[in-house]
Amino acid sequence: MIMIIIIITFLLLLHVSSSFAAPHPHHRPQAPSAFNISTIPFTTGFTPLFGSGFKSSDLYNHGLFSAKIKLPSDYTAGIVVAFYTTNGDIFRKTHDELDFEFLGNIRGKAWRFQTNMYGNGSTNRGREERYYLWFDPSKEFHTYSILWTTKNIIFYIDDVPIREIVRNDAMGADFPSKPMGLYATIWDASDWATSGGKYRANYKYAPFVAEFTDDLSTDAPWTR
Ligand SMILES: *[C@@H]1O[C@H](CO)[C@@H](O)[C@H](O)[C@H]1NC(C)=O
Ligand SMILES: *[C@@H]1O[C@H](CO)[C@@H](O)[C@H](O)[C@H]1NC(C)=O
Repeated sequence: MIMIIIIITFLLLLHVSSSFAAPHPHHRPQAPSAFNISTIPFTTGFTPLFGSGFKSSDLYNHGLFSAKIKLPSDYTAGIVVAFYTTNGDIFRKTHDELDFEFLGNIRGKAWRFQTNMYGNGSTNRGREERYYLWFDPSKEFHTYSILWTTKNIIFYIDDVPIREIVRNDAMGADFPSKPMGLYATIWDASDWATSGGKYRANYKYAPFVAEFTDDLSTDAPWTR
């Protein structure tokens, strides 16, 4: 029996607004905690996804999608946790998607994660980028955010911008423009996730638990 569990506590804040200004491209992007926007609580905004996660009940056209996440501890090679927006259920060939994917970990090694952007079914402008985390994400909660405006997309960890994609005319539909839902999932990706599949999931270490929570413990303006 495969045991993969996502624990959801309190609120997952889905921040939806079109009223905030996009950061000026020539300046360091504004930290997400500086935004003053309304939020949707987890209990009203989300539904379970059979087996392995949850998704928002609605679709959104732009927003700040943010959660505090604590990743599974011990040996999690092969286990991927993803926090992402997509409309792949509706547009199978021409979907849009913005991903954080955490690629499983071998105890004692730095965690790797990647970001991707799909626009109209392609990663022409948003090919995956991989990075190492500078902390152990299984020890405590960190805030992972995806800002999606009409002008740019920024991936943040806590208040640190990791990647920015600035829209330009040449992108056309390669820049996501159709409404998307927010998803969180956990699954077995032994074939590729950790060192190209060299280290596979080991169910001796199950259950693999990813915890998602709110941001109420911080003093962020959006929580007031
Ligand atoms: C946040 O926005 C609300 C409504 O627009 C406004 O009343 C409030 O003063 C703002 N707070 C801050 C800290 O900017
Ligand atoms: C999206 O992709 C489809 C299939 O490749 C293409 O036919 C369509 O023109 C694209 N849409 C836009 C707005 O570029």
